[in-house]
Amino acid sequence: MEKMRLQKFLARCGVCSRRKAEEYIAAGQVKVDGQTVTEMGVSVGEENHVTFNGRLLTLEEEFEYYLLNKPAGYITTLSDPQGRPTVTSLLRGVKTRIFPVGRLDLDTEGALLLTNDGNLAQRMQHPSLHTKKHYEALVKGRPAAAALRQLEQGVELEGKLTAPAKVHLVKQGENSAVLALTLQEGRKRQVKKMCAHIGHPVLFLKRTAYGRLTLDGLKRGAWRRLSSVDLEKIFL
Ligand code: URA
Repeated sequence: MEKMRLQKFLARCGVCSRRKAEEYIAAGQVKVDGQTVTEMGVSVGEENHVTFNGRLLTLEEEFEYYLLNKPAGYITTLSDPQGRPTVTSLLRGVKTRIFPVGRLDLDTEGALLLTNDGNLAQRMQHPSLHTKKHYEALVKGRPAAAALRQLEQGVELEGKLTAPAKVHLVKQGENSAVLALTLQEGRKRQVKKMCAHIGHPVLFLKRTAYGRLTLDGLKRGAWRRLSSVDLEKIFL
């Protein structure tokens, strides 16, 4: 095996995504041959003894991918100091150490990928692949067509314009509306911030699909292991 950067090694060992690995390294949770390493440039190979929080790491032979229909009330981290239930606690019977790809808010429902492949998140964020994330949002009020076009073209959040998106009005009631949104980026709480920006805060949010990988047949709280055909659908 060729040498690789420490954060990539952690991802290949199924610890977490590469980005998260950088946080763990900076926080001093990773040791190489007994020494804590906090810089990113270090290269390691199979001959190195790499530990994460004291656990010796070995490269994963096979990657596993799961799709969960996340219910509200579950947190997308591996553990929670406040003791709230985690999404991984729902995947009973899965022996492999898997982690969520990206995040969904505590009160958000829907499609969430989990894997031991630390490079999947990286691949999904690659601009040439343009992974599309589809959401359905119940929002307060009745947004005007111009406000929806504004969401499509980009709104300024924390000093940076959002990337072009697709937004459709699915239906509207007296004082609420359902929007279908397709985003290619994934900033923290992006859908909620975008809708709040146009004056129509989100009352309920669900991610319905990644690309063409939908939740079809998966009840709230249910999950299934993905095949390679399913995986390809993420990028379509
Ligand atoms: N956008 C949000 O605002 N929340 C989520 O959970 C996902 C996308």
